[in-house]
Amino acid sequence: MSRRRIRILLLFGGRSAEHDVSVASAIAMMRALEGTGIEVLPVGISRVGQWQLGDSALRMLGDSALFRSSDTDVCSLALVNGARSFEESLRSADVVFPLLHGPYGEDGTVQGLLELADVPYVGSGVLGSALGMDKIAMKAVFEHAGLPVVPYRALSRSAWRRDPQAVEQWLEDELGYPMFVKPANMGSSVGISKVHGRQELRPALGRASRHDRRLLVERGLEARELECGVLGNDEPSASVVGEIQPGEEYYSYEAKYIHDCAVSVIPADVPHEVSQRVREMAVTAFRAVDAAGMARVDFFLVGGRDIYINEINTIPGFTPISQFPRLWAASGVSYPELVERLAELALERHAQRPAPGDEE
Ligand SMILES: Nc1ncnc2c1ncn2[C@@H]1O[C@H](COP(=O)(O)OP(=O)(O)O)[C@@H](O)[C@H]1O
Ligand SMILES: [Mg+2]
Repeated sequence: MSRRRIRILLLFGGRSAEHDVSVASAIAMMRALEGTGIEVLPVGISRVGQWQLGDSALRMLGDSALFRSSDTDVCSLALVNGARSFEESLRSADVVFPLLHGPYGEDGTVQGLLELADVPYVGSGVLGSALGMDKIAMKAVFEHAGLPVVPYRALSRSAWRRDPQAVEQWLEDELGYPMFVKPANMGSSVGISKVHGRQELRPALGRASRHDRRLLVERGLEARELECGVLGNDEPSASVVGEIQPGEEYYSYEAKYIHDCAVSVIPADVPHEVSQRVREMAVTAFRAVDAAGMARVDFFLVGGRDIYINEINTIPGFTPISQFPRLWAASGVSYPELVERLAELALERHAQRPAPGDEE
């Protein structure tokens, strides 16, 4: 395989509840890139927000809670980051890959820092990241773009705390059971509950409230879950469509990462019209939030025909069980090719920015 040597600064970990998922994604990526000529310079962000270089970053990888791996095993995969500062690490890399899930990573905060530093980075910019992270803002943008979304109500944690009885009655009247209660800003199903009746509603709102001030409650659907990968900048293309069968009542954090019960079917066994429509909707969603580089767009299929968009993930998982790399593999793009393509897209996007001082 002949490819240009490229050095990626891999930012992983982070302050969000999805820290472990990010570490698992980083390990999987380093394994997949072994021997490809793509070099990885790891920079870890601890749970309390400390940025770790060198051996400390490698130790964070070895401490992965979701996928145990020995220190030495992981250490052999990464370049030792000998830089003394993050700034120095930045200067020695071609492109930054923020492989961070959830708040403080996938939400535009880190992207803002990278914009300020004027370095090429993989994935969406500030706006696309922020819209893709916030389930309430995301739905408003999807509705505006004509994409069907599941009936939902948005509320603030403080309004619920002020008058829980009235808010719970309102939700019950508007949506009925079952409902899904979610924090607006989170991922990996963290803080999400399926609510079957009144007695479960208050605890569910409490759980979601631990993660965000803004909450979202949706009508619970009896649905199949379809996923589509998107790759590109201004001319994005869609992957084949896959299906996730959670193997449990819904695709919870445990179903995703602990119980190992979910089954992924790629390509999904759905009529051609359904997968075509999903692919078109995925690209529409990508454009609607101004995503860049990559995204995984998730859908619900009800009654074999009705398609609702669930969400867009601007930094999809790259763990060993993650759908995004699998969807692209099934579309003819291998894992190393995918990472290389993402790095190219990052460079392309960076080159399109006005150079400092260019503005009139
Ligand atoms: N309205 C809904 N109806 C049915 N199932 C849902 C609904 N919302 C969420 N789910 C289930 O919960 C899972 C996680 O919800 P999602 O909104 O995708 O959150 P996350 O961003 O954490 O992945 C989904 O994959 C699905 O299994
Ligand atoms: Mg999801």
